[in-house]
Parts: sequence; C-alpha cells; structure tokens
Amino acid sequence: VVRRTTVPQIRARKAGEPIVSLTSYHAHTAAIVDKHADFILVGDSLGMVMHGMESTVGVPLDLMIMHGKAVVRGTQKALIVVDMPFGTYEESPNMAFRNAARIMKETSCGAVKLEGGARMAETIRFLVERGIPVMAHIGLTPQSSHVMGGFKTQGRDEDTWAEHIADAHAVTEAGAFAVVLEGMVEPLAAKITKEIAIPTIGIGASVDCDGQILVLEDMLGLNEWTPKFVRVYSDLGPAIESAVERYADDVRARAFPGDDETYR
Ligand code: KIV
Ligand code: NA
Repeated sequence: VVRRTTVPQIRARKAGEPIVSLTSYHAHTAAIVDKHADFILVGDSLGMVMHGMESTVGVPLDLMIMHGKAVVRGTQKALIVVDMPFGTYEESPNMAFRNAARIMKETSCGAVKLEGGARMAETIRFLVERGIPVMAHIGLTPQSSHVMGGFKTQGRDEDTWAEHIADAHAVTEAGAFAVVLEGMVEPLAAKITKEIAIPTIGIGASVDCDGQILVLEDMLGLNEWTPKFVRVYSDLGPAIESAVERYADDVRARAFPGDDETYR
C-alpha cells in the first residue's frame, strides 16, 4: 500500500530536506508530478492557466472541486492541497468552514490553502480546530490584486517588512501547517523562514525558503508570459505547436492516416 504524505510529515520538514511542490489540475499531469513531489497544489491559478480568465477572482468553488477530484484520482503518494477560491472564505470562519468542508468531502484532498495573513488568522484557527488542515499564503496574494494594484513583488521597501513578518507569525500561531511566500524579496523571505516554526514554500521568494512551488505549465513553457522567478525546464509550447502543424500539413496532404493507421 502506498501511503500519501501527511500534513504532519510536511510540517516536520521545517529546516530539513527542501519540500518539492508543483501545481497540477488534471489526473494525467498529476500522475507524473506525483512521482516526484511531496505535495501537489490544485491552485486557483487554474482559472487563468486552464480557463483563460484574467485573474483568479472569478474562479468558482465547483471548478476547484472538479479539478481537485481529478488530481486526487490521478495520484497516490503526494499530499493534495486545494485552493479556496476568492469569495468562499473571507467573510467569516463559518462560511470558510462550510466551503472548506465541501472541498475536503467532495475531493478527498488532504488540506486547503487560503490567502491572507493576520486578517485570516481567526479563520485558520477555526478550521484547524475542526479538522481541516490549512496552508496559508502571504506576500503577493493574487486574489487581492485589485487592492494591491496588480501583481507586485513584496518587500522592496523595508518599511513594509513588519507587516509581512506579522502575517507569517499570525498564521503560524493560528495553526497553519505551512505557508506559501509568494513574490517576495530574498532578505524578507529569509527572515520569515528563519523566524517561524512552520515550513515556508516559496514562489518567487528565493532559495531561502523551506520548499519551492511553481505552476507546472509555467515551468513547462506552456504559458505566453513567463515571470522572472520561473525556470523553464522544458519548452513544450513550441513542441506542441510543431506537432499540431505537422498533423495539419499531413491531413491537408492526405498523408495522415497512412497504411499503418488504417483498419483493413
Ligand atoms: O494558485 C496557485 O497556483 C498558487 C501557487 C502559485 C502558490 O497559489
Ligand atoms: Na492560488
């Protein structure tokens, strides 16, 4: 029997062997990622990456649940974490519990993630005390991009550090088992990682975090725009285009299907 990585196992990796994570939204890509990742995030980035939305603000809960189910079905080993989308948890701890419980029950995932630091601490505690493990997410929080005025790297001005550090402590004290640090200058990410007792998972937040996460499609070169913090491990965009182009040429030339591909 293959056992999935548990929340306490991730939590125990603080300052240990770096935690490996990628996003995944599908059964088939998740099965590949499952061979090498400690946890897989079904991120609400799927709204932009898979569904062509302009931001994550419009992602519905049902869509997260649908993709969450697919990823759980496609995997055996990794802990599966599902993002709570905008508007499904901010209003009250009760609302957050109701929606997080739906995600846990309907997808069979192992944890949820939500955005926000000190302001979400009460909600994080409410969920954890009632059996729902929570991964927090601070720094650049895409669901608040309308308030922040876009996707901006956090902590460039040292005067803003205190707030981010307070957020990191607040989610730790509230019982989060790990925290994503997104879009943050290195010295701030390093300071937070050193100060708090739970693992930090960086995305655009330097090598000093306790683990790293990237959006799978970004590191596979499938998105039109690649942010500075992404390393493209395989440029699949051009490879897919070349395959589609050759197929189109073959169909037009009646060179596909050929003998081998035909039932006689
Ligand atoms: O939605 C997402 O993919 C995320 C990661 C970038 C952390 O939240
Ligand atoms: Na997200």
